[in-house]
Amino acid sequence: MRILVIGSGGREHALVWKIAQSKLVDKVFCAPGNGGISQLSECIDINVENIGRLLDFARQEKIDLTVVGPEVPLSLGIVDEFENNKLKIFGPSKKGARLEASKVFAKELMAKYKIPTADFQIFDNPEEARKYIDKINGPCVVKADGLAQGKGVVVAKTPDEAKKAVNSMMQDKIFGDAGNEIIIEECLEGEEASIIVITDSKTVIPLASSQDHKRIFDNDRGPNTGGMGAYSPAPVVSPGLFKLVLEKIIHPTIDGLVREGINYKGTLYAGIMITKEGPRTLEFNVRFGDPETQAILPRLESDLVEVMLAASDRKLSSILKNNGLKWDERACVCVVCSSRGYPGKYEKGKEISGLKEVAKIKDTAVFHAGTKKVTKSQGHKVTSFVTNGGRVLGVAGLGKTIKEAIDKAYQAVGMINFEGMHYRKDIGAKAL
Ligand code: AMP
Ligand code: GLY
Repeated sequence: MRILVIGSGGREHALVWKIAQSKLVDKVFCAPGNGGISQLSECIDINVENIGRLLDFARQEKIDLTVVGPEVPLSLGIVDEFENNKLKIFGPSKKGARLEASKVFAKELMAKYKIPTADFQIFDNPEEARKYIDKINGPCVVKADGLAQGKGVVVAKTPDEAKKAVNSMMQDKIFGDAGNEIIIEECLEGEEASIIVITDSKTVIPLASSQDHKRIFDNDRGPNTGGMGAYSPAPVVSPGLFKLVLEKIIHPTIDGLVREGINYKGTLYAGIMITKEGPRTLEFNVRFGDPETQAILPRLESDLVEVMLAASDRKLSSILKNNGLKWDERACVCVVCSSRGYPGKYEKGKEISGLKEVAKIKDTAVFHAGTKKVTKSQGHKVTSFVTNGGRVLGVAGLGKTIKEAIDKAYQAVGMINFEGMHYRKDIGAKAL
């Protein structure tokens, strides 16, 4: 089979890495990919939002299955477009992708189908929003309705902070139309976890639990990022809690969507807060998590391509009949190495050292996020990698326990370097 993966981050490197191991697969393409991905697949210089060109490419190259990494092409309707042209693609339709692309849609669905989440109000008028904030007169969370590259959520400790967020979203329009409507919701307390499943609306196959680390600095300090590391499994998600999340959140959401006329298929990701009152939904994503995927896929023993094909064909029950997914019992920890300045401004083009040495260490994997391959000629050709983004690498380590996986990942991180390299020293520590 010929597979096309869409995206260019660490998540896509992990997907390409896993897909390339499948017995079903002859060739993998990635659009646009990155330095690391180019070692495993043919990278095609097409932007993830250019659905017309992606479609032309998939047709010309007779792609058997397209796998979409990021949310933007899904929210633009890439799945509808491919399927209208009889091309197989893994992911939800444009309507299904609204679960992530519109927080108002997601919250209204949760309210209608009694899916546990934070209490909330929706506003399209900043004056009303500010009045509501005064009424709460305590911590609250302000969320832009639309996609904002993971930056559209402000956890405000004071009414002042909350009002500033309202002003910048609704009046200064820092996220453009994504801030036409906002949500103000109750501030929840507890431990966070990510529950990711693959579904075709009839069958749900959960992946292993995981936990992300969103803040840039140790002990969850500093601004939010795309994610600075992850581990799997998340011990806070006991088997009982996992069952509860499936029963109270995942199944009612998928069934609710079906009742709304949306036969969801692809990946469904629920970000949850485990509160004293039980699990509450923080958000839905309609794709694999980044960097959760880099900590989950090294543990997956089953063929991911078989599962994605079955979901795309809406025959996912066939995977369950064959005993579902097989997992490596070991834990996996992925530490993200980022450029100095990220999530703010940062420089690119710094040479990365140590990658060849790390590749020799058993039970580790390095997933590239923002890197570029450069070839220099010094008599013979020399290939190296330079930084090309905020998050540069995800370094994953497997171990019998989370502690061993942490040690493995940091052993590998210790061998890698580039100018201004930053990483958190406490990835996985919460799980100990
Ligand atoms: P989201 O993009 O909705 O997941 O929000 C990003 C982050 O904001 C989450 O991972 C949480 O850490 C935090 N967050 C979102 N909603 C709430 C809430 N209701 N209470 C407390 N923290 C929240
Ligand atoms: N790790 C959070 C996300 O993928 O949105």
